[in-house]
Amino acid sequence: MRIKFLDLNKIHNQNRAEYHNILDDILNQSAFIGGAYLQSFENSFRDFIGAKYCVGVANGTDALEIAIESLDFSSGEIIVPANTFIASAEAVSRNGLKPVFCDVNNDDYTIDVSDLEKRITRSTVAIMCVHLYGHPCDMAPILNLAKKYNLKVIEDCSQAHGAKYKGSTVGSLGDVGCFSFYPGKNLGGFGDAGAIVTNDKKIADLSRLIANHGRIEKYDHKIEGRNSRLDNIQAAVLSLKLKYLGEQNELRKKLANCYMDNLVSEKNITLPSIKPWADPVWHLFVIRVENRKNLIADLAKYGVETSIHYPTPLPKLSAYKHLNQSNEKGFAWESAGKLISLPIGPHLTQDDVYFVCDKLKKLSF
Ligand SMILES: Cc1ncc(COP(=O)(O)O)c(C=O)c1O
Repeated sequence: MRIKFLDLNKIHNQNRAEYHNILDDILNQSAFIGGAYLQSFENSFRDFIGAKYCVGVANGTDALEIAIESLDFSSGEIIVPANTFIASAEAVSRNGLKPVFCDVNNDDYTIDVSDLEKRITRSTVAIMCVHLYGHPCDMAPILNLAKKYNLKVIEDCSQAHGAKYKGSTVGSLGDVGCFSFYPGKNLGGFGDAGAIVTNDKKIADLSRLIANHGRIEKYDHKIEGRNSRLDNIQAAVLSLKLKYLGEQNELRKKLANCYMDNLVSEKNITLPSIKPWADPVWHLFVIRVENRKNLIADLAKYGVETSIHYPTPLPKLSAYKHLNQSNEKGFAWESAGKLISLPIGPHLTQDDVYFVCDKLKKLSF
């Protein structure tokens, strides 16, 4: 038995003929940059999120970077959770702003609102909410803090395509939502891809301008921008995959429930929680154990692949040593050595999850 952590081949084989058809069509049209597929994807993704505008860009990191640039801060600090992928913080520094790390909750792994408030200073200009592992952040208190202190809210939705907070899809709740369509994401392209969604026309227009060399017309550049366009091949693939996202997210939920039901009595495993207001989409299923090393090795012997998200909290990375937050105390700072991501995704069946649970129950760690 082999339980892969991710199996893109298996996922894509289900609709292989459809992918060939759209790639053929793009080849026939030689429509590689811009065009009908891009426009159609931007419209359908905008509608899927329930936002007014969607701007396709080259990847999720660029989505965050360009979104922040379009918010037009001259200087300041943006509060970022300590446990996330580096891109959430990189986008802040790359805009000449300072990331300030805050703690995350010990149950759903999203931003800890009480710690967040303590980090707000006169220099704070925005909050970066990362809907980590597919679970939405508690947006109501975050939006209240943003209102109280006049801050912008950026949602990093790279792991949460279709997750809902109190019935609203993430990406539609803050000032701007940013998505990665990296191949392994819940909605992933055939390469790098990303998008910015917003209800604010100014943010949408400026983001589009920045992502396309500040160009209004060919060779008429209003500002200096960059090249970060979503290409037509990715847009066409994503349009097709968006049709299957709902059913794939439902399967992820079924598999997560299966893990939850089967592992609930295991004293040495801390399961993730689902907050009452959350409808998560389980990009990752992350558990906590004391002896991670043994468990990973033992599961591997049974053919079960696992992963770690993330081995080092951002403030402890050498890239952020200069911010002097590496020695702070907090859940994110202390729990990184205990996290294990178990396999989840549309390449798996409930029987696969039963198999993993069965091994977890039998192993001593
Ligand atoms: C939380 C988070 N933010 C941002 C990104 C960056 O996305 P990309 O790899 O498309 O640049 C990722 C991708 O792994 C992510 O998981």
